[in-house]
Amino acid sequence: MEIKDVFGYAEELMTEVEAFSTEKKEELEQFRIAFLGTKGKVKDLFSNFKAVSNDRKKEFGQLANKVKQTAEAKFKLLKELVDEQTTQTETVPDLTLPVNAKLGSRHPIAIVRNKMIDIFARIGFTVAYGPEIDDDWHNFTALNTPPNHPARDMQDTFYIDRATDPYILLRTHTSSVQTRYMQKNKPPIRIIAPGRVFRNETISARAHCQFHQVEGLYIDENVSLADLRQTLLYFAQEMFGKNTKIRLRPSYFPFTEPSAEMDISCFICNQEGCAVCKKTGWVEILGCGMVDPEVLENCGIDSKKYTGFAFGMGVERTAMLKYRLNDIRLLFENDVRFLQQFEAAL
Ligand code: DAH
Repeated sequence: MEIKDVFGYAEELMTEVEAFSTEKKEELEQFRIAFLGTKGKVKDLFSNFKAVSNDRKKEFGQLANKVKQTAEAKFKLLKELVDEQTTQTETVPDLTLPVNAKLGSRHPIAIVRNKMIDIFARIGFTVAYGPEIDDDWHNFTALNTPPNHPARDMQDTFYIDRATDPYILLRTHTSSVQTRYMQKNKPPIRIIAPGRVFRNETISARAHCQFHQVEGLYIDENVSLADLRQTLLYFAQEMFGKNTKIRLRPSYFPFTEPSAEMDISCFICNQEGCAVCKKTGWVEILGCGMVDPEVLENCGIDSKKYTGFAFGMGVERTAMLKYRLNDIRLLFENDVRFLQQFEAAL
């Protein structure tokens, strides 16, 4: 190669190096091999060194070195950019992937309560709420259970203040919502009252000092026991299955006359007899009856014009039956291993 050509060649490489740019890893690698590799152009340029006359060797050496350094610097710079870009694309999450987040589950008490509300909503019942801290009158007296009435012993009460008249207490049942609702609303009344209730009971596998009830109240003209029975049959079949049978056993509650307890046919053994139904084929599920006219009058409703029925059931009891739980305490411990077993919806 002519000396002039050698210098020209060096200039040419320089321009080529300076003009080069890429964002692609493969292209950068090709550049490295082409310019800086063992058989690359820079090496080739240096191999012309001996052909250069002595007086220009220094000049050529400097020029060739400059080409080499520029190529190396270019490679280093582009490599940093390319590497950065690769790590970026690796760490930015792929937003098109399906979500893999763990969803929470509803508490079994909420699942069963919501199902009860749903079933009654379909036949025209609306939801009503009352306070957990209530007074003696709404919880007992208005419901035909005046002070010293023996029926008060049926429910061990947590009193908050006995210096007041009436006493302040934690409601022992959601029947107290009936009283408040009747005072404020005129018939027709068709409500369902879900809520937490409290009783001074020793905690065991079968009893707790707090639990949940769903109360029902239907008041209108000409409401009969047949309406009560049909409503409860509908509920039982929606809740426990189409083949469920019900039976009403005479019972006693101060606020209903007549009163009954409702059993459902045992869906666990199909009435063959098992531990849950104690070999009777029937499982008790709720208390009910025709609202005592005295209760209607206490709450300002004309008992000559109106009649009604009421019922009250335990949410935990139904949840325990449905999910075959043998210890009520599981429902209050909030152990995630227990809670995760319930689906978000029933
Ligand atoms: N309040 C009763 C209890 O807690 C349940 C109950 C029975 C409610 C009969 C009613 C009813 O409305 O009519 O044991």
